[in-house]
Amino acid sequence: MRELIFNAFVMNTTSHIQHGLWRHPNARQHDFNDVRLWIDLARTLEAGLFDAIFFADVVGLYGPLNGDYAVNAREGLQIPNNDPSVLLSAIAVNTEHLGLALTSSVLQAHPFEFARRASTLDHISDGRLAWNIVTSTQENAARNFGFDRLVEHDERYEWAEEYTEVVYKLWEGSWDDDALQRDKARGVFSDPTRIHKINHQGKRYRVEGPHLPSPTPQRTPFLFQAGSSPAGRRFAARHAEGQFIATPNPRVAAELISETRALARSFGRDPSDIKFLQGFTFVIGSTEEEARRKEAELDRYISIDGFLAHSNLGVSQDTGEPYPPETPLADIRTNGGRSHIEWLRKANPDREPTVGDLARLVARRHQRLVGTPQSIADQLAEWQKAGIDGVNVINWYLPGSYEEFNEQLLPELQRRGLAKREYRPGTLREKIFGRSRLPASHPAAQYRGAFSRRPERSAAGLDLVAGT
Ligand SMILES: Cc1cc2nc3c(=O)[nH]c(=O)nc-3n(C[C@H](O)[C@H](O)[C@H](O)COP(=O)(O)O)c2cc1C
Repeated sequence: MRELIFNAFVMNTTSHIQHGLWRHPNARQHDFNDVRLWIDLARTLEAGLFDAIFFADVVGLYGPLNGDYAVNAREGLQIPNNDPSVLLSAIAVNTEHLGLALTSSVLQAHPFEFARRASTLDHISDGRLAWNIVTSTQENAARNFGFDRLVEHDERYEWAEEYTEVVYKLWEGSWDDDALQRDKARGVFSDPTRIHKINHQGKRYRVEGPHLPSPTPQRTPFLFQAGSSPAGRRFAARHAEGQFIATPNPRVAAELISETRALARSFGRDPSDIKFLQGFTFVIGSTEEEARRKEAELDRYISIDGFLAHSNLGVSQDTGEPYPPETPLADIRTNGGRSHIEWLRKANPDREPTVGDLARLVARRHQRLVGTPQSIADQLAEWQKAGIDGVNVINWYLPGSYEEFNEQLLPELQRRGLAKREYRPGTLREKIFGRSRLPASHPAAQYRGAFSRRPERSAAGLDLVAGT
């Protein structure tokens, strides 16, 4: 049995996914401003040998075009929230092995600035940074960054193509491996001939470079992606090393995985260079009955209002009013994420799903595995047979859901070889793929050495290299 990868899916906010659950007596997510909550949680995750803590992030509000945020505010639905990249530096110095996955949208930061922040975090963590590449699906987020409307769905992925091109050039091509010399005797800190401008000129960005940080242990952070629309899947197939999926059953997971792997092959990548992580919540009991009782108790806290507001789909983007539940999803207009609709169509191939189906789905948004440790391990083994490489563990409450995972489920998973017993050494990429750098078949690799082809003499007599 292969070991699965385990990520803890969190957000620096009160109500991330399981809306309403912050009111549960065991919940401490409403203390999210307290850095100690996160440091303690990260240590718990490390004790449970989690591969990474994965921070979701948004830069605006979910909700209708008219900008109404009454539900969001009442529910604590991703507002208030804080910047996870700042928090990750605190977590980095309080952990040793845990991967640190940061979501950052192409909308929120200029790629030059983002590349620098990411490199800084990769240095601080000795190569444990991962980046979840997102394009933002919220109208409000677009308006926060000077746009009138969200850029159209597929064009957002073209934008992400250029964005990744810029950051890859900075991370992979701007500095040669031996550029940093730190030679006190010769008085040479870095060799200017081995540091290069990138001179990127594209549709949205013009970036001269060079990259300001020196090369980090991984250079390009470990790359995650989560889109499941056709454009999202193509993007993942080109770029992702880890793909988050939210599929309704192992059969659909197997289909999605084999399609994405085939696409990766068509882009010249090794299909096994992408790991697929399915989102699950766990409800663990010492007997099946206890697990069902616990599930019923958790369900009592769920807020349907919160789920519908989060999905961005339950209300008309034009009027801000809720759609009647019988509205077919084909009739609703959205420029946001389409993965829920895809999910529902795959789960109901014989009919067009409705807004009412959506409400029921989003309330159970990600796959729930309920039962004893043995029955949950059986189910995970089935999913693994369908091709998943790992699990994105969605919590009900912090930190309790992960403590329960460690105490109740992990021993059974380890006994069956589904979970590891110790960390491997090295960077996050090394732990997962056995190498710290992206392979030559990844699109980032084309920029290695790409800017060092035209040597020139500097006024000081040093060999200088101009960007191409
Ligand atoms: C597990 C998971 C995590 C995600 N995390 C974020 C996030 O933190 N921020 C964000 O803006 N979008 C997030 N998304 C949304 C995706 O990045 C993507 O925009 C969405 O799935 C719609 O893309 P698609 O239309 O290609 O399916 C996430 C999606 C999934 C499945």
